[in-house]
Amino acid sequence: QQEERLRPRRLSEYIGQKDLKEVLDIAIQAAKVRQETLDHLLLYGPPGLGKTTLSLILAEEMGVGCKMTTAPALERPRDIAGLLMGLQPGDVLFIDEIHRLPKVTEEILYAAMEDFRLDVTLGKGSSARTRSLPLKHFTLVGATTRVGALTSPLRDRFGLIQRLRFYELDELLQIVLRTAGILKMPVTDEGATEIARRSRGTPRIANRLLKRVRDYVQVKELGELTEAIAAEALERYNIDPLGLDWTDRRLLTVMIENFNGGPVGLETIAAATGEDAQTIEEVYEPYLLQIGYLNRTPRGRIATAAAWKHLGYTPPDSQLSIL
Ligand code: ADE
Repeated sequence: QQEERLRPRRLSEYIGQKDLKEVLDIAIQAAKVRQETLDHLLLYGPPGLGKTTLSLILAEEMGVGCKMTTAPALERPRDIAGLLMGLQPGDVLFIDEIHRLPKVTEEILYAAMEDFRLDVTLGKGSSARTRSLPLKHFTLVGATTRVGALTSPLRDRFGLIQRLRFYELDELLQIVLRTAGILKMPVTDEGATEIARRSRGTPRIANRLLKRVRDYVQVKELGELTEAIAAEALERYNIDPLGLDWTDRRLLTVMIENFNGGPVGLETIAAATGEDAQTIEEVYEPYLLQIGYLNRTPRGRIATAAAWKHLGYTPPDSQLSIL
């Protein structure tokens, strides 16, 4: 429940994602004036950027409840039917990993989203009948790391489709300072900046690193968190100055050492490293792409010259042209 204390509860407390906040603010105000529920909203982007938090904020701003679930938990029609029937008027229903909805539950959502209607089949075989039950109006907030994996009928039923982007250093700094304040942790601006710098553009990582550093500071009785202490602590946790962790570095190292930097297919990288292909694609690659350490090409992934250099290798001549 400490996580809950760290989440901003209002849009005005939420740091970063400026464009997205503006869009949501207008949608909230308009819905309030018209006394309607918010349009269904699809949030996509890499993990840890605030999709769940924003969903809770929307409910708070609208003065309604928020029911949270994740697509793999909605295996049977009755799972989604139960959730939908339990909603109060105006509630937000948050479905995480919505690209993983089973087909049977996804089809129930179509009519629920569009007409606030629950179509259920009663009985089996020749005696089967369908009935349509009215639902309270609600707002579906879907979250996904892979917007391309959604079927178009589902995607088309969202009135708002918004991307979350990685956070800038100054935004992460504000988040680290805010969290340190809530945790009553003495920290210098430079100490907080060092954590922000190593957070891979991701608030969830920033808060996680801050807690690890807090452990370190407490156990070693170091008092205030300075830049040097943050750097020292994070080295121990194998987070390098750019925020790459052991797995990030291993992915790049395998590409460089075993495949001369690529191009190499995702499945091949997965097999060579023992990591799950989908996790590599959705969790690790987005940031490596963002900082220009990795390129995706039709023939596979390439570790760029910048990645070779960061890891202490000399890029081959053929790679220099990519710079
Ligand atoms: N904690 C985690 N993400 C945050 C954000 N975007 N703004 C404020 N606090 C946060």
